[in-house]
Amino acid sequence: MSGEPDGMRRVALITGASGGIGADLARVFSRHGHDLALVARSRDRLDALADEIAALGRPRPLVFAADLAERGAVEQLAAALQKAGASPDVLVNNAGFGLMGECVALDPAEQLAIVDLNVRALVEITLRFLPQIVAARGKILNVASIVSFFPGGPGLAIYYASKAFVRSFTLALGQEMRGRGVAVTVLCPGYTRTGFQSRAGFEAETLAFLPGQSAMEVAEAGFAGLIAGRREVVPGLVNKITAWLLPFSPKALVLPVLSRLQQKRRGNA
Ligand SMILES: NC(=O)c1ccc[n+]([C@@H]2O[C@H](COP(=O)([O-])OP(=O)(O)OC[C@H]3O[C@@H](n4cnc5c(N)ncnc54)[C@H](OP(=O)(O)O)[C@@H]3O)[C@@H](O)[C@H]2O)c1
Repeated sequence: MSGEPDGMRRVALITGASGGIGADLARVFSRHGHDLALVARSRDRLDALADEIAALGRPRPLVFAADLAERGAVEQLAAALQKAGASPDVLVNNAGFGLMGECVALDPAEQLAIVDLNVRALVEITLRFLPQIVAARGKILNVASIVSFFPGGPGLAIYYASKAFVRSFTLALGQEMRGRGVAVTVLCPGYTRTGFQSRAGFEAETLAFLPGQSAMEVAEAGFAGLIAGRREVVPGLVNKITAWLLPFSPKALVLPVLSRLQQKRRGNA
């Protein structure tokens, strides 16, 4: 595939843009003058966001309804973008989810879907559009999590491991891209008030007293870090301290404490 998007509409391609952090990333990128292509499964919510952005006098984002955990979805997305005459110069890999519970208890197919979305689709989209992004000297923002700094996450094991992958992959890709004028940033939010927790199976009352951040605060921090060319963005002071301390914390302490905490959060304590 040619990396030259001549005559193409340059777009910031944002996955998981139907709600939460991804929808606010779309609002922030649009506010800063980016034309957008939005992807998620919920077409109605994507259309509503596209209408909202268009009502502000900005270009109406392209909307693609796709289940990115499905094999072949990325190729279909690439074909649809090409048909629409669009080529990404910015890629935001934000779609992701987790499931609470022990590996032995959760449905294996659902656990593999976490890998398919958080890891496989993220890598596939990145590799698929990398030639265009390099040609455009563009940007990539990958959404990992504060959990990527932990040695592992008993009770959310596949999710923590997937985000460790995203952080490692993104830091390495960023280094590879340094000589090519492509900015690559990994965004590592802590607890952010979105639909993530209910999909993962958190007991709502276990989160009631956690301050957390809003999706917009996280989106603004991610955008600012990407524009500033930062390798890694950890939004919020508490999260920054956590990320700094974790490498010095013994696994024999962190893993059992985390295990107990996750049991409480899923109402099993
Ligand atoms: N919230 C937090 O505390 C937190 C903390 C750290 C990191 N993160 C990360 O931030 C990212 C955004 O999560 P969020 O907190 O904004 O959660 P969210 O509100 O649940 O949003 C997740 C987004 O991903 C999309 N999505 C889910 N499954 C998909 C699939 N199979 N194919 C395509 N799109 C899919 C969802 O749209 P549809 O349902 O319409 O498909 C939605 O737009 C995730 O990668 C998450 O791991 C979240």
